[in-house]
Formats: sequence, C-alpha cells, structure tokens
Amino acid sequence: MSPSTAQSFKNPRAKHNFQGRTCSIAGVGSYVPAKILTNADLEKMVDTSDEWITTRTGIKERRIAAADEFTSDLGAEAARRAMKKVGITADRLDLIIVATITPDMPFPSTACLIQQKLGAHRAAAFDLEAACSGFIYALEIGQQFIMSRTYDTVLVIGAEKLSAITDWTDRNTCVLFGDGAGAAILQSRPSSHGLLTAVMGADGEKADLLFMPAGGSREPASPESVNARLHYLRMEGKETFKNAVQAMQTAAEEALGRCELDISRIKCIIPHQANRRIIESVAERLGAKPEQLFVNVNKYGNTSAASVAIALDEAVESGRIQRGDLILLVVFGAGLTWGAAVIEW
Ligand code: ACO
Repeated sequence: MSPSTAQSFKNPRAKHNFQGRTCSIAGVGSYVPAKILTNADLEKMVDTSDEWITTRTGIKERRIAAADEFTSDLGAEAARRAMKKVGITADRLDLIIVATITPDMPFPSTACLIQQKLGAHRAAAFDLEAACSGFIYALEIGQQFIMSRTYDTVLVIGAEKLSAITDWTDRNTCVLFGDGAGAAILQSRPSSHGLLTAVMGADGEKADLLFMPAGGSREPASPESVNARLHYLRMEGKETFKNAVQAMQTAAEEALGRCELDISRIKCIIPHQANRRIIESVAERLGAKPEQLFVNVNKYGNTSAASVAIALDEAVESGRIQRGDLILLVVFGAGLTWGAAVIEW
C-alpha cells in the first residue's frame, strides 16, 4: 500500500451498508488513431500558429481517425486492451456503457455496435451523452449496477471521433479537438474501496456555450443546414473556460469533502484534458502541486468523453498510479456538465 492511503479516509458509500461489495476499476485500456495532426499541419489549413495554439492551450498535436475508422472502432479497440489487461473475455461482460457525443450514427447506440464488434453477446448496451463529462457519468452509472449486485462486470467506454464534427475552416475550434477512446472494466474487488464517490452536475441554462446546432429533431439535416455549416460543433471559448475552471474546482472539492480528504493525500489528479491553462488554474485553486497532475493534452488535444479515460490508462501504464493510491478525476463539458470522482486504485 502506498503512503497516500496510510491514513484513514471516509468511504461515503459505507453508510449504504454494501456489506463488503466495492466497485473497483479492475483495468483500463486506450486506443488512439495512428494519424497525427500537428500544429504545423494546422498552420497550413487555417490562419493560426504553433505559438498561438501552444501558449493558449498547451496542445502540440492530436490524433485523427481514418475515414473508415469510426467511434465504435476506437471504443472496441480500447475495450479489447482493457479486457486483455484484466484477463477476461467478452463473454464475461454484463453491461457496456459508451459515453460519446460522436456516435457512429444517431441510432442504434454505439454501445450496441461495440457489443457486436467484441462478441459480447450476454451484455446489455447503451450510450450516454454528457459530452466531456461522460466518462465520470458512465463510471457512476456502472458503479450502481456493481454495488447493487445486478451485474458483476461492467465495461465503461469514453470514445470520440470529434474530427467528424469539427469545422476545419474555423480556427477558433479546429485546433482544440482530437479522436480517441479509453475503457475501464468495473468489478467488485473487496481488497480495495474502489470508486469512493462521484459528483455529477449539470446546468442546462448554459447549453448554448457549446453545442452542435443541427442533426437532431430541432434542425434535421437539410441542404440548408449543411450549407450553413450547422453540423459542426460551436463554442464560446472564453465563457466555457471560466465556467470550466469554476465547476471543476467545486466538483473536486465536493468529492474530496465527502471522503474527508485533503488534496495533498491525492497521488494523481487526472483532469479533463481540454486546455493546459484550465488544468493549471483548477490545480492552483485546489492547492494541488504540479507533480500531482497528469497532463497529456499536448499529445491528443481535447478528446471529450475519451479524455480522462485515455489519461487514466497512460497514468497507470507509466507507473504514476499504483494499486492503493488515491486518485481524483475531474471533468467538465457541454451541457453544461461536470463531475469529479475519488478512487482508491
Ligand atoms: N489561432 C490564432 N488565433 C486565434 C485562434 C487560433 N487557432 N483561435 C482564436 N484566435 C484569435 C481569436 O480570433 C481572437 O482574436 P481577436 O481578439 O482578434 O478577436 C484571439 O485569438 C483571442 O481569442 P480568445 O477567445 O481571447 O482566446 P482565449 O485566450 O480565450 O483562448 C480558447 C481561446 C483556447 C478557445 C480558450 O478560450 C479555451 O480553451 N476555452 C475553453 C475550451 C474548452 O475547454 N472547451 C471544453 C470543451 S468540453 C466539451 O464538452 C467538448
């Protein structure tokens, strides 16, 4: 057991009398497409510069899925990698939850397409949409099924092909996003407290800060909607930035407070990878040290629901997180939505 868990902390779920049942992340996996789009490449596409992108966002490059590679392909590959690490086959999966804002198509769900790709015939499957907060929302929902003993093994995936809804002529947004997927296998593992708590929040009053205008029932696809470029995401960058910092701070403090934990006890903080400046502002407000932060936004940009899932996998693979460590995930996204989770790894 690492030093971070040497002292006690409160398990907020203990009051529900779960009798030894826990929800742990048994293993994680991730997958990003091979194609790298650098800031230098973007300089040739829109009026921007590596210097602007780097200083404003911390992003140096992002991954772009191939034309015949879809969100379900990215998610399925991340899931295969997670299952391999846990040492289970697809027939063990009881439920698949996919968090995404870029499903292969409006319906059926990308979770069903991934179920087929994995051959997970026993598993129920559905998508959820909480934008960049989706992975924490999915973890919390999956957790309910484990703790209630409804299911023993739940696969949670955050997967996005944001390049498909990015306006590559709009320098305000196209430099920010990338494609990728991360997956986690949830199981009860009595040796660990696992997912101690998860905060989820939303504010639909601010839905218009970050949205895709067309393609739904309000503005179905038409020649007019396509001509007006309404099938791409739109964002009020500055307002989104301010709201992100505030919401992530509040959510993280709420999650830590529930567990009676000081930020100094957290071995690794994995924030949503949207912008290095947002991450640093949140860390400063929380009183976290730079060495507690895990940052990979430089390599992938903002991959929305996949973001913390990919970062979690890289943090584990690189040895930044060991079994027994306390970790904090904190996210923010369109909706607006936000969330934070404290996990004993
Ligand atoms: N290259 C060069 N110049 C640019 C670029 C670019 N790629 N993009 C914008 N600019 C210009 C703007 O046009 C503006 O010029 P003007 O002053 O002449 O009008 C200038 O740069 C400054 O723009 P600001 O909006 O002030 O830049 P800011 O410092 O706010 O940074 C950014 C912009 C990076 C978008 C920032 O606001 C941000 O990160 N916002 C949050 C984004 C985010 O986290 N989104 C979460 C998404 S979550 C989800 O659910 C998908």
